[in-house]
Amino acid sequence: MDLSDIQHIGVIGAGTMGSGITQVCATSGYRVTMVDVSPEALDRARSNINRSLEKLRGKNRITEEQYQGALANIQTSLDMSDLCTAQVVIEAASENVDLKTGLFTQLSAIALPETILATNTSSISITQIAAATQRPDKVIGMHFMNPVPLMELIEIIRGLATSQETLDVIMALSKALGKTPVEAADYPGFIANRILIPMLNEAMYALMEGVGTVEAIDTVMKLGMNHPMGPLTLADFIGLDIVLNVLNVLHEGLGDPKYRPCPLLKKMVAAGYLGRKSGKGFYTYPACSAPPLCPLPTALRWWRGEILLQRAVCPPLSPLRRERGSDAQHRRGIGVKPGRSRYISVLPAYCAQCTSI
Ligand SMILES: NC(=O)c1ccc[n+]([C@@H]2O[C@H](COP(=O)([O-])OP(=O)(O)OC[C@H]3O[C@@H](n4cnc5c(N)ncnc54)[C@H](O)[C@@H]3O)[C@@H](O)[C@H]2O)c1
Repeated sequence: MDLSDIQHIGVIGAGTMGSGITQVCATSGYRVTMVDVSPEALDRARSNINRSLEKLRGKNRITEEQYQGALANIQTSLDMSDLCTAQVVIEAASENVDLKTGLFTQLSAIALPETILATNTSSISITQIAAATQRPDKVIGMHFMNPVPLMELIEIIRGLATSQETLDVIMALSKALGKTPVEAADYPGFIANRILIPMLNEAMYALMEGVGTVEAIDTVMKLGMNHPMGPLTLADFIGLDIVLNVLNVLHEGLGDPKYRPCPLLKKMVAAGYLGRKSGKGFYTYPACSAPPLCPLPTALRWWRGEILLQRAVCPPLSPLRRERGSDAQHRRGIGVKPGRSRYISVLPAYCAQCTSI
């Protein structure tokens, strides 16, 4: 197979990543079938994609023709057998090893023999996922960054059995999607998390050992290294439990004590200090004066001016401003994950009880 054979792409999962991947593939001219087990997720993904495309059209980043073409290219389905004509399937379902291996076993039976099966996993071994199929040579990691339409990078991960042909086709496809693919080997954390997360861990050790205060550590990295956000602020954004999970994956997977999670981090997670989402981490995020549940059925999340439906929490105005700052960081390629860290804010108009907004 080569790039010119690809016309139909399947996407599994209609969440944060699956909807972004669908949008990018459809805008690049591919027919896309997006599959999810949840009809609500498919509906939400469609309206998010519509809104995002309208915005891009409004800013002249895509033409009217591309806008219409992208919408026409997208189909949704609850039935994975609708992927039987796709030349490439990109899996972006929830991060769970049993779920993903089960999906790949199913896919391997449904898809055309030549179809390439890619996964967007952030931490699961590509080799392990590939072993669940009858075609490990055609399984590959395609680790998109969030938000997919805006972030240029895709980490491409070859499993032990992935063929050169599969790698070549996926590198070419990534470029056709307007992205820059970078090859990473199949080791825990690939490149992005292997480098980013230990840096955050080291900042926590520096804090624990009294090398500097929270503010001093963040200021040094911002002003001295030109990072858009200090490492402790970033850890709070990602969620300290997520940072701890990734460190455990690195520590267990690589067996090197240099990845051992900082005891201070473990203690904070045990105490329920999870960063922004819990109101306390290395910084304190003042509680909203509103009752525990916002009157909205869902809260509204912003990034780059786009509003995405999210769960109901009511942080105050200042975190909203900081959240927008984090988006700039995303665009610069520091791969924190807003989908997981729940960067949520509430529009004042919808949240009359939030006097702090
Ligand atoms: N969120 C990020 O920042 C980010 C970045 C890079 C990679 N990833 C990876 O992308 C993948 C998806 O992450 P996300 O943040 O989009 O998750 P999400 O929770 O937003 O979406 C997951 C979707 O998968 C669907 N799903 C679950 N089981 C399914 C099944 N059997 N068949 C079809 N769909 C199913 C769910 O209904 C949900 O809509 C994960 O592997 C994650 O590690 C996430």
